[in-house]
Amino acid sequence: MAHIQDYKQIMIISSDDNKNVESSNQLEAKETDFDKTFECSIRPKTFSDYIGQTELKETLSISIESAKKREQSIDHMLFYGPPGLGKTTLAGVIANEMGVNIKITSAPALERPRDIIGILMSLKAGEILFIDEIHRLNKVAEEILYPAMEDFFIDMMTGKSQATKNLRIPVPKFTLIGATTKAGSLSGPLRDRFGIIHRLEFYTIKELMDVLSRTSKLLDIKIDKDGLNAIARRSRGTPRIANRLIKRVRDYALVRYNSDINGQIANEALDLLKIDNVGLNPTDRNLLKLIIEKYDGGPVGIETIAAALCEDVKTIEDVCEPYLLQAGLILRTPRGRKVSPEGYRLLGITPPIMQGNLFE
Ligand code: ADE
Repeated sequence: MAHIQDYKQIMIISSDDNKNVESSNQLEAKETDFDKTFECSIRPKTFSDYIGQTELKETLSISIESAKKREQSIDHMLFYGPPGLGKTTLAGVIANEMGVNIKITSAPALERPRDIIGILMSLKAGEILFIDEIHRLNKVAEEILYPAMEDFFIDMMTGKSQATKNLRIPVPKFTLIGATTKAGSLSGPLRDRFGIIHRLEFYTIKELMDVLSRTSKLLDIKIDKDGLNAIARRSRGTPRIANRLIKRVRDYALVRYNSDINGQIANEALDLLKIDNVGLNPTDRNLLKLIIEKYDGGPVGIETIAAALCEDVKTIEDVCEPYLLQAGLILRTPRGRKVSPEGYRLLGITPPIMQGNLFE
């Protein structure tokens, strides 16, 4: 292969943007620096190790094989979906399967034009640039990216006032992989420049059990099938949460029972962590309770909910809501959020007879 290098290296270009750290429940799917280190050690490297997202894997394998046959870099890709479903992991797998390096960064780290220009100019042909939270890219960075993505050059101005000159600098044919929890917040022109756009889906219980089984072997945690099932059920369809919970359950089993993990121990440990049997944490339950008790089940606006729960809107929208919506516990209407009859039942409250059009 002419321009694709035969080595694999992951480089993480970290963000110094710690100003935007949000309040968070310790067991949510938000990624911390610790997670990054921990997950790096257990992250699958190949499609055969990567569990779940079956259809997506199949489509991506075809794109990769085709790019390899054509000896060209793979098309730019956009992955979207709730946090913790494996967007970064998947980018790493793609780089590994392509046999190329990946440079990992996130949009808040690309504040100044020179940040994005520096990274683009450091890329080699065929390499992958992964930009997390790509919806947070500022306008200037986006405009530098457009010609880089489309025609592989960047336009730079040099000199001052009358003496400015426009320099057109070529960049090697790279692949941009963007990840976002909010595909709708991406500007149209940026979205249109991705050749491959995919949504990552929540994992089934069976898939999460497979993820946990793999993790337990890598971390030398002894756990039986009931234990795997108990943790998987309470991981709200999210491998990052499952991988976090198994370690807390391991601690509980060791300290309280000096034993391996079984179903009963896992359930006890998760009860202690206040994760209920469908994976809801106290914030989720308080959200449902708030809408039911203070707003007659809704609709109520997201800002009101966030203020009442002392959480920020972004945490509610990006972390709590996706799973509550997927589980059918809340409904999104143009006038705000409503609790569904299932949401009422989950809290042991008889749902009122729903009248009128839910989507009004
Ligand atoms: N760990 C986290 N996500 C995973 C996945 N999709 N497959 C295997 N292990 C994982």
